[in-house]
Amino acid sequence: MLNLTSVDLKKVKTETLIIPVCEDKTIHDNQAISLLIKKAKQLKEFTGKKNDEVIFYDLEEIKAKRVMFLGLGKLEKIDPEALRAFAGRAVKKCMKTNLSEVLLAVPCGKNMKTEIASALEAMMEGAFLGNHIFDKYKKEKKLKPLKKIYLLVKDDMVKKYDLLPARVETVCAGTILAREWVSTPSNDKKPEQFTKSIVTLAEREKLKVSVLNEKELKQKKFGAMLAVGAGSNSKARMVALEYSPKDAKNTIALVGKGVTFDSGGINLKTPGSMEDMKTDMSGAAAVAATLITAAKLKLNVKVVGVIPIVENMPSGSASRPGDVVKSYDGKTVEIGNTDAEGRLILIDALSFCIKKYKPHTIIDIATLTGACVIALGEKIAGVFSFDDELAKAIELSGKKTHERCWRLPMPDDYKKLLKSDLADINNISSSRWGGAITGALFLSEFAGDARWAHIDIAGPASIKKGHEYCGAGGTGFGVRLFCDLLDKL
Ligand code: BES
Ligand code: MG
Ligand code: ZN
Repeated sequence: MLNLTSVDLKKVKTETLIIPVCEDKTIHDNQAISLLIKKAKQLKEFTGKKNDEVIFYDLEEIKAKRVMFLGLGKLEKIDPEALRAFAGRAVKKCMKTNLSEVLLAVPCGKNMKTEIASALEAMMEGAFLGNHIFDKYKKEKKLKPLKKIYLLVKDDMVKKYDLLPARVETVCAGTILAREWVSTPSNDKKPEQFTKSIVTLAEREKLKVSVLNEKELKQKKFGAMLAVGAGSNSKARMVALEYSPKDAKNTIALVGKGVTFDSGGINLKTPGSMEDMKTDMSGAAAVAATLITAAKLKLNVKVVGVIPIVENMPSGSASRPGDVVKSYDGKTVEIGNTDAEGRLILIDALSFCIKKYKPHTIIDIATLTGACVIALGEKIAGVFSFDDELAKAIELSGKKTHERCWRLPMPDDYKKLLKSDLADINNISSSRWGGAITGALFLSEFAGDARWAHIDIAGPASIKKGHEYCGAGGTGFGVRLFCDLLDKL
């Protein structure tokens, strides 16, 4: 799918060459390409400004049928994310013209501030992710993905980076898997179905898989999680995936919120806030896809994924506001609001995970609060941890993959907002403000002494309008970030 090449442009077989062009500096050191850019810039309508484009056909100096120039803007704006967007845009253009292959010129010139390895990786990611379309639910399939994407680099780089294409493909296939799970409508991913889908793919990669069904969850007293699933006809499941390479010492645990639909329960959401709630299993999707990807990459670290899966529905058997339930670790929780269900399933998953695996590090990822979206907007995730090093590592990986994370505080004195007169703790805060923080503090009460972090992805888990390398729907947020992070922890 992705291929590095240093082919001579006079002999190139690919019909389409696409060249990224900088407005104010040269970013290519390939002579032939520089000459082509000069020619394009002789046109008044093309300066290399961001989103400028022009196509030349049947040029004498090169064999490709068409050469497309896409503007990137000024040099200072050309970072890995701009290259991801460029590659995604380039691939989309080809798809729309019904092409099956493309050759993308990688800017390797010395003006480039981005290191070549990062530039290459970013372009591959943008191209591969941009080449994905989720049209399973359409009768008419309008676009066909490209079959082959070539990246034009210097001679010595073909060998130097020969392992990179396969790695990027594997990681991005994980992102796409998560995207498709998230975009799948809730009627096709009820807890039973979603569980099956995860188990099938995980077993294919030889992960150790275990599933607790509702009966077992009852026996083992997962009271908080069962309370959330109680209103649905499709019963709760706890899925655990283990990737254990031979000599790995430390265990890293990932826990992902898997609410296949969040109606709010008896505290029913309003129509406007309910529509997107099929995406409330985005944390689960990210964790399952990461575990599957870790196995494919043969990472050198033990990783476990713990995934509580439920549907939050109102019915005669649903939990009521004011109910008190006993969580897996024994603390009682007053359900102040049935719509604060994510934290209820996560606390049982966290305590189960800590008891069973004694992980060195535990990170949960969840579409937990609307308040986090109010705080950071729709593109940035909130990170919470008492461990500075872990929070920093998450932020750094997110910066690298452009899955942006921003740390928010967990002040001790906010904990009292979660007091319950009746039970050990309430699942909602007595204040309407700072909901992302009180959500995180609630979880922290069940993380014990573990080195723990929480990532609130209520904002970036899905998008309403697609961009260069992601269509509307699930974004797969977290998979690329975790793959980068696992290598570093
Ligand atoms: N799944 C929602 C959070 C959410 C909101 C995700 C917007 C994606 C976009 C969560 O279960 C929820 O309902 N949270 C409540 C918590 C409140 C009742 C304390 C919220 O944010 O309003
Ligand atoms: Mg909710
Ligand atoms: Zn929810």
